[in-house]
Amino acid sequence: QQLKPEQTPERGMWSSRFGFLMAAVGSAVGLGNLWKFPYLAGENGGGAFVLVYVGLVVILGFTLMLAELSIGRHTNSDAYGAYSKLKKGWGFVGGFGILAGFLILSYYSVVGGWVLKYIVASVTGVGADKGAYFTNFITSSVEPVIYHLIFMGLTAIIVIRGISGGIEKAVKIVMPALFIMLMVIVLRSVTLEGASEGLKYYLTPNFSEITLKVFIAALGQVFFSLSLGMGCMVTYGSYLSKQEDLEKDALLIPSLDSLVAIMAGFAILPAVFAFGFAPGEGPGLMFITLPAVFESMPLGTVFSLIFFILVFFAAISSSISLMEVTVAFGIDRLKWSRKVSVLVFTTVMFIIGIGASLSMGAWSDFLIPWIDGNSYGIFDFLDVVTSYYLLPLGGLLSAIFIGFVWGVPNAVKEIKTGGNFRTEKLWSVLIKYIVPILVFVILLSTTGLLDR
Ligand code: PHE
Ligand code: NA
Repeated sequence: QQLKPEQTPERGMWSSRFGFLMAAVGSAVGLGNLWKFPYLAGENGGGAFVLVYVGLVVILGFTLMLAELSIGRHTNSDAYGAYSKLKKGWGFVGGFGILAGFLILSYYSVVGGWVLKYIVASVTGVGADKGAYFTNFITSSVEPVIYHLIFMGLTAIIVIRGISGGIEKAVKIVMPALFIMLMVIVLRSVTLEGASEGLKYYLTPNFSEITLKVFIAALGQVFFSLSLGMGCMVTYGSYLSKQEDLEKDALLIPSLDSLVAIMAGFAILPAVFAFGFAPGEGPGLMFITLPAVFESMPLGTVFSLIFFILVFFAAISSSISLMEVTVAFGIDRLKWSRKVSVLVFTTVMFIIGIGASLSMGAWSDFLIPWIDGNSYGIFDFLDVVTSYYLLPLGGLLSAIFIGFVWGVPNAVKEIKTGGNFRTEKLWSVLIKYIVPILVFVILLSTTGLLDR
């Protein structure tokens, strides 16, 4: 295999600025937007959740995206190395992130497997009872694990081949296609009889529903959806050239990601009401609702097939980034080859994922106690610990790191190598004071310790 001059054999480099953007958008847009956002909105008061979510994206999304990209590009190393290079003893911040990415991918791959199953089910049909079909599938012991294996295996193969190349090309086609597909589904969904109820639920925030719980859910989702708080954007930024305009990227990536999430909500929630499903259904919401929508469309089978294939590509471009964080650590710190690094981590994540999958059925009685006073099955445990604790903690620490350890002026200098930095003053205040305080307060209330 020929290497471009700027590449080191194991690390790699983006082939172009566009390639990076595609990969970063590919990382951000994934199951978080299509699968998680709509069901979280459904569980948390609809419009109330959307409002809080958008507010938090505006404040945190841009600020922390820019923070991570600047740390990554400045240090040129994996998440752990980046922090420890800038300040001895701070590698643990990256370490938390690597752990988070590792745990997320373990269950993300299980949901990726559900998507694969629904590609097949688009053709074979899901029968009259959409809920029963989904529940039967995820609670069975063997089939979901096989799909999980396939999803994890495909992720591993792509990551072994290195970061540039395939991902960029795929994302370039998948993202616009996904967008058009979502438009089509939104049009069908909002014109269903009884959809207006759902539209109202989704768009009008009921202020009495804006509780602390909504803030907690929205905060976790902001981190998860934007791939923040775990060094993913540090790692991706480390492959960037000094000419890159980081400020522009930090505005563009969260905007596109939020657009897709909000569209997914428009595609799903009106239909939920039109067909009489429950908005608080949870993780099954997309898988139960969309087949009903497709059934009500001409050429529904074709639309369903194309849609789930696109969701699969969106999911895999995210899972690749999750794996890359861990693998970059293996390469840079443990001095493993890319191949060994991928194989070792994939195996462990696959095994943890088996537990996550079984916790939907056979192992549903196996509960893990957590510091918030609740006990969770393996799948939920991985989700709760990462989205509501590790990612916000990672984001909090990265803000503190820039504000008080590396120093805002140093970060600003790094950002400015790519062009002027129009929001310098605003960003400086956000990263040093507003973001850490906001995240800290929500994180503290997440623990439930304040209520006791
Ligand atoms: N942002 C991805 C999604 O929305 C998930 C992800 C989280 C990817 C963290 C990388 C890092 O699906
Ligand atoms: Na996302």
